[in-house]
Amino acid sequence: MVPTPHATLAPLLARHAGRAHELLPLLHALQDSDGYIDPAHVPAIAAALNLSRAEVHGVITFYHHFRSAPPPSTVVQVCRAEACRSRGGEALVAHIEACTGAKVDGEPCQDVGVESVYCLGQCALSPAVMINGELHARVSAARFDALLASQPARKAGEHV
Ligand code: FES
Repeated sequence: MVPTPHATLAPLLARHAGRAHELLPLLHALQDSDGYIDPAHVPAIAAALNLSRAEVHGVITFYHHFRSAPPPSTVVQVCRAEACRSRGGEALVAHIEACTGAKVDGEPCQDVGVESVYCLGQCALSPAVMINGELHARVSAARFDALLASQPARKAGEHV
């Protein structure tokens, strides 16, 4: 038996019902709304789109973008592509790990998560980071510290 979907999911299921090729738009919309994709929703999504649970789970876990748990209050995405690497990006990564206590692409620390991304479209202004969805270019260690300190506290359930 498929569990009853919650308020956000129900209209998405209705909109994409029977359209297996619309799995990605549905997953993006759900994550945009909830901040993550609750694994408990996989059976309902699979049933609505005529897919197997394994297919839905496979797509969610294949794409690094999708989260299966609520995000931390502060999400730092640091560019690790070539232009940023050539302009001190990896030293910035080390600094970010040291000052947040969080390992890149690992578990959050003190409600700060750090993720790798590969090009934020700011190659000429590297190194670049995105903090809670806001893009920053030419980020030095000192500038990163100031940016992190200026992040507003978010309420429980609020996400980027
Ligand atoms: S390589 Fe980092 S923004 Fe393009």
